[in-house]
Amino acid sequence: MSMDEAHGGGMVSAILSSVVLLLLLGRTADAQRSLEFFDLLPEDPKLYDKMRPPKKDGQATVVYFHVTVMGLDSIDENSMTYAADIFFAQTWKDNRLRLPENMTSEYRLLEVDWLKNMWRPDSFFKNAKSVTFQTMTIPNHYLWLYKDKTILYMVKLTLKLSCAMNFLIYPHDTQECKLQMESLSHTTDEMIFQWDPDVPLVVDENIELPQLQLVKNYTADCTQVYSTGNFTCLEVVFVLKRRLGYYLFHTYVPTCLIVIMSWVSFWIKPEAAPARVTLGVTSLLTLSTQHAKSQASLPPVSYLKAVDAFMSVCTVFVFMALMEYCLVNIVLGDSDTPPKPAPPPPPPSSSGTDSAKLDKIFDIATKENAMLLSGRSQKSSGPPPGPTPAQRARMRALNIDRVSRVFFPFLFAVLNVTYWIMFAEYI
Ligand SMILES: *[C@@H]1O[C@H](CO)[C@@H](O)[C@H](O)[C@H]1NC(C)=O
Ligand SMILES: *[C@@H]1O[C@H](CO)[C@@H](O)[C@H](O)[C@H]1NC(C)=O
Ligand SMILES: *[C@@H]1O[C@H](CO)[C@@H](O)[C@H](O)[C@H]1NC(C)=O
Repeated sequence: MSMDEAHGGGMVSAILSSVVLLLLLGRTADAQRSLEFFDLLPEDPKLYDKMRPPKKDGQATVVYFHVTVMGLDSIDENSMTYAADIFFAQTWKDNRLRLPENMTSEYRLLEVDWLKNMWRPDSFFKNAKSVTFQTMTIPNHYLWLYKDKTILYMVKLTLKLSCAMNFLIYPHDTQECKLQMESLSHTTDEMIFQWDPDVPLVVDENIELPQLQLVKNYTADCTQVYSTGNFTCLEVVFVLKRRLGYYLFHTYVPTCLIVIMSWVSFWIKPEAAPARVTLGVTSLLTLSTQHAKSQASLPPVSYLKAVDAFMSVCTVFVFMALMEYCLVNIVLGDSDTPPKPAPPPPPPSSSGTDSAKLDKIFDIATKENAMLLSGRSQKSSGPPPGPTPAQRARMRALNIDRVSRVFFPFLFAVLNVTYWIMFAEYI
């Protein structure tokens, strides 16, 4: 029995001593001691007003911003919005706080919930339509307390931002999209935002946008004067330039090809009305489909865009090609109506030779057909004194076609060169 007790006593003392050892170890490494929020507040918590910014010597509290842009996407011309994935860091110094005892490390992680009971900058995203805060696998934010009582609050956010876009020179346009952060309730007397002097903005180099290219990024100040006072505001500006490649291959080249296609009509015989009219009308329809397709992604703006001007000019060209045929047809048809006074019907008295009469009619018909279709003067067929009025009309019609063959391509080339010179500086 006594043996047992002695044994048990030994066990207890061993456990006790190890606990004491552990406690001692814990004391020496006291940075690992758990921290309560009240350890940070002044001795008299009444002295800490979380609604009042920590002004030092009456100076406005300076909050330093840093933004890391991890992604830009979903640029939507129709709703004039874009999405951005950012890390947003705010740093400020609160001298009213107490540091945890014997803080040895450079900074210490604090519970983010404590922010509710501390003073914090009340920044908000001015042009945000929606802000998504991610909570997987843990809420994506953290709070650091530095040795010099500086507090860093970092949060990862996905923002849907509005961006006013102007499509006057679409698709040669360059858009400036902003990300603005303003103070909600503190005027510049109390708090000012400033960009981090070392690294204000980091933009991921690998950002790829399907139709636009990020050509420039910079930070700026957008402090706003309201009737209630001046409110501090900072902004990130992304300069996005539209890539022309897509529009070159899906709009400009096909449209030019359709216009060129409509000129094929000038090389078709004036008599081939179905062919020439069909060609013109088909070109016109294809062009209007192209035009509609070129603005599928755009809001219906009231002003004329560059691409509209181009498309309209092309439509006018195709329309003019159709009208040219109208003119050719009129010139051709004018003298067609009184062709040559039809040979007077043979008097009924000579109706004996029916077959001879039929032959004569066939002869005239074949001659006329041959003349119409070949367009060659019928010098070989006989020695006429000169071209008949129908032949002269045909020559005139053909001349209109000949002039058009040169005039249309020339004018189109001139207009194209003018257009591309006008927008060369935006390419
Ligand atoms: C903090 O460190 C000081 C000396 O650096 C020491 O005197 C004091 O006891 C330490 N306080 C605690 C709670 O460990
Ligand atoms: C953002 O701007 C900085 C400085 O102007 C530049 O060095 C960097 O390459 C830009 N980043 C992108 C993705 O354009
Ligand atoms: C607000 O800003 C304007 C111009 O930046 C300045 O003239 C004015 O004094 C400021 N007002 C206050 C209350 O700071």
